[in-house]
Amino acid sequence: MNRRKFFKLSLQAGLVTAASQNVSGLFAKSSKKDIPLATNALRIPPVISGGDLVIAPTTFEINSGIQTNVISINNSFPAPTIRLKKGDTFSAQIKNNLTEPTVIHWHGIHAPSTMDGHPRNAIAPGDTFNLSYPIIQRAGTYFYHSHADMNTAKQSYLGMTGMFIVEDDEEKALGLPSGEFEIPLLIQDKRFDKNGQLIYAPTTADMSAGWLGDTVLINGTPPNAFLNVANTMYRFRIVNGSNARTYNIALSDGKQFTIIGNDGGLLESPAAVTSAMLAPAERLDIVVDFSGYSIGDNLFLKSLSFFYSDGPGSGTLRQGAEIDLLQFTIDRTAAKGNPIPAALSAITKFNSSDAVNNRSFQLSGHQYINSQSFDINRIDNHVPFGALEQWTITNLSESVHPMHVHGVQFQIVNPTQPSEGGWKDVVRIESFATVQVLLRFTEYTGIYLIHCHILEHEDMGMMSNFQVEQSGAVKHETNGQNEIVIFPNPASDHAFLKFPSLEKEEMLMLIDITGRVISKDILGAGITDHKLLTDKISNGSYRIILGNYEAELIVMRQ
Ligand code: C2O
Ligand code: CU
Ligand code: CU
Repeated sequence: MNRRKFFKLSLQAGLVTAASQNVSGLFAKSSKKDIPLATNALRIPPVISGGDLVIAPTTFEINSGIQTNVISINNSFPAPTIRLKKGDTFSAQIKNNLTEPTVIHWHGIHAPSTMDGHPRNAIAPGDTFNLSYPIIQRAGTYFYHSHADMNTAKQSYLGMTGMFIVEDDEEKALGLPSGEFEIPLLIQDKRFDKNGQLIYAPTTADMSAGWLGDTVLINGTPPNAFLNVANTMYRFRIVNGSNARTYNIALSDGKQFTIIGNDGGLLESPAAVTSAMLAPAERLDIVVDFSGYSIGDNLFLKSLSFFYSDGPGSGTLRQGAEIDLLQFTIDRTAAKGNPIPAALSAITKFNSSDAVNNRSFQLSGHQYINSQSFDINRIDNHVPFGALEQWTITNLSESVHPMHVHGVQFQIVNPTQPSEGGWKDVVRIESFATVQVLLRFTEYTGIYLIHCHILEHEDMGMMSNFQVEQSGAVKHETNGQNEIVIFPNPASDHAFLKFPSLEKEEMLMLIDITGRVISKDILGAGITDHKLLTDKISNGSYRIILGNYEAELIVMRQ
């Protein structure tokens, strides 16, 4: 199906269901003056570390007494939270029990290209896909969701979205609020029909504005969600898992809260703010200190109203509307938590002047990058592995586009707010604005994506493939002067490499079958041999890349 056809189909689907009524009237609207109205205790999704992930059309009791049709993962809505530690191996068997193809993308996680959830790796109905890769990145709040070709929005919206939390020792040592004081908050706006079923039927206007719900669920909790808290510090890991809605996160009494992290983990230092924008797929890791409140006090986590240029689509709750998200009731005392350390993490800053390549991405309409919409088989950019690049993203449209890059965390060149510091994988690009990001692919080679994270825009084709690869044309010499001679090969603990004298400094890389770089050595000009230690790497076949030369190395230990 081409994109134009897809667009027509969604348009028809929209016409068919345009008469459906939403049931926002079923749910009492909370109001600031009438605290407390909240009636639904905040749900916390189950936590897993991998294993079977069964994607299936099931029902789930989102609203009390009503079975809602969803796409669940392991019968959970939203999907379970995956929680792992840096150094762990993430292994999963993904079973597709849907009647259509699907695939899961691990957003923000460094995964091999073939396991990253690219739509070309779709899992057919009834099939199982086994994956396994090491968690090699820093601690942070990541997430996962459907990435099916032209079907990401619907599948993610119907339930295929969950959190993916990575811990590490460095973060642990900071003594941030944990256990019952660390709460995941996955925010998603939905529309329900009068039978309590989820509506997903975007019209042409919705494809442009993005599908906006009128009912905001936190972790799938029905509206008027509350959390009873102690008068101490809490860490909230907030993921905006909405198709298109941006939130302007704040406390209802206007008090400060502290941003400690965002998309790619902890900031360098905490930032006290009274509000922070959170576009689709962005994350905010915040600490709220309830120690100044008395038992019985109530306040809300809310989204403040903000100006938004795009049209409203068919939704009744406009983009930028004020929304109460979660009511906090202070119901008990607790020891005052540790102060937040003034230094949270070390982040080496990239400099534009060090970038070896510049690339530009021009966004237009709701579906074009550099005037083209997505073609699953077309590679639009070849990005050299290991090289610092500056990407300039220019928004030539009237819509805001939160742009996301797979396989990497980047740095925004001129962040305009504290939440844009540190490592990011989504950047909000205002209408007619230009943003520059600096990035370097240092983990895997292979095909990855850049796209708008308004899921309707992604499905319409505001997405582009790029391929991370070794720079220069790799020579495959099997004999003659230019080859790398390896002995012994197979190697056990080490191998000696002999090659023609290097004309300039070159990087020697050992790459495994998934494309992951296992080791890197810089070899100076004039060098003609090298001893490569292989005692710490597992048995298997590896590629050796040295400048323009490539060779195969087998590691075989008893
Ligand atoms: Cu969260 Cu390619 O997406
Ligand atoms: Cu991603
Ligand atoms: Cu967009």
